[in-house]
Amino acid sequence: MFSIVSFPELASTNDHLKQHNCEYPFSTVILAQHQTKGRGRFERIWQSDQDLTFSILFPHGPNHGFIAPLAVVKALKAHAIPAEIKWPNDVLVHGKKVCGILVESVYEGNDAVADIVGIGVNVTEKKNLRAKSTYVSLSRNELLTDILTRYEELLGLETKDLLNEIRKVFYLNGKTLQIDGIMWDVDGVDEHVYLCIHHQDQ
Ligand code: BTN
Repeated sequence: MFSIVSFPELASTNDHLKQHNCEYPFSTVILAQHQTKGRGRFERIWQSDQDLTFSILFPHGPNHGFIAPLAVVKALKAHAIPAEIKWPNDVLVHGKKVCGILVESVYEGNDAVADIVGIGVNVTEKKNLRAKSTYVSLSRNELLTDILTRYEELLGLETKDLLNEIRKVFYLNGKTLQIDGIMWDVDGVDEHVYLCIHHQDQ
């Protein structure tokens, strides 16, 4: 299903697809051996050296924000790595972030016509890695193949089955969050993958 186009270096695989999406068919995977201006959510910098960084072009659809982390979790679990999803779409191992996902849409006028799903997985140890981040010691090519295989399988599932899969690997299940100084207990995610929380006193 997927066809991979590999570059030794790009500024950002998401930006490349944004600029050139008309030149590629859907299901193209843009893989960069190195990104010089990798981006995260909220325009944060995504630093990667010899890590796994790629973006996939899809027709616009509702579910990529949770299919993508699920595909990564399942790929890591196949290597006996205990990965979990932290809402909305980070992937954690032992509570530390190993993978970030940036889903962006391409618009024609007001209509979203395509989605770009950017995935970055840390596969190298970094001296300056933030304490909240970690890495997995896996081959980039093998991991890419595993993630794409899982992605293809998950695309065939109905939303309710995807939700069941997510709930099984949802890191925040039963945890407590502090929001503006108030403690909230996490119940899980609802059918729209919105976070469900309740006030501790309720
Ligand atoms: C985040 O954690 O905020 C999301 C990080 C997403 C990083 C990936 S790496 C491949 C793709 N290209 C980018 O510039 N960003 C995404």
